[in-house]
Amino acid sequence: MAAPDPNKAIPRHIAVIMDGNGRWAAARGLPRREGHRAGAVSVEECLVACGELGVRYLTLYAFSSENWKRPQAEVTALMTLLTHFLKEKTPRLMQNNVRLQVIGQLAKLPQRNQRQLRETIEKTKDNDGLTLVVALSYGSREEIVDAARRLMEEAKTGAIDPADLDPETFSRYLHTAALPDPDLLIRTSGECRVSNFLLWQISYAEIVITETLWPDFRREHLEAAIAEYQCRHRRFGGL
Ligand code: FPP
Repeated sequence: MAAPDPNKAIPRHIAVIMDGNGRWAAARGLPRREGHRAGAVSVEECLVACGELGVRYLTLYAFSSENWKRPQAEVTALMTLLTHFLKEKTPRLMQNNVRLQVIGQLAKLPQRNQRQLRETIEKTKDNDGLTLVVALSYGSREEIVDAARRLMEEAKTGAIDPADLDPETFSRYLHTAALPDPDLLIRTSGECRVSNFLLWQISYAEIVITETLWPDFRREHLEAAIAEYQCRHRRFGGL
């Protein structure tokens, strides 16, 4: 598999649609939650590899606003897995100098998860290595509508003049206000769609789709995606 070229730039921000956990489990005759559990191992490997490769931001689509429609048992299993992961892995995050951030409609999460997230965010806030952004109960359309609503409220009170609104100002109202846009979007399991993920922010991201199912995604797959990114000629609409 191709490896990154040390003479070419590493993407500053990688976003990942982690897909294929269910199919990975089904292929082994296992319940879907086992696919998510195996997916958590890939998360750990990726975040260590990203830190070592010099990636600054890694955003993972862990639970979409549409995922609430899944069977209750799967939703509960995913929430429990996430809570365990954060609790158990906080020392590893500290050891690897990883700072945790979250985006999404967090108020919809069970209280226990919200508490755990707040604790880990607080504990890791001064780490200055990789920033791991976990998207939870996240939907890009909802995020954009939230931003528009806040802007309209500010326009009503006169705090902002609609004539002054531009893309930079609008970006500051999104959940990702403090983050640079992703340079590279990876989607696993071969599906070719963006599924309501960072629609505004991926305007100029390079997209790499791999057939590998997320639970099988390892450092070499990440490196191959970065190598493919390095072969792209980014023009941002220019020549
Ligand atoms: C999509 O696969 C994956 C998810 C909805 C959940 C992703 C969550 C994890 C990998 C758990 C660990 C995450 C963290 C941040 C600790 P799918 O279930 O839609 O797969 P399918 O398309 O094959 O059914």
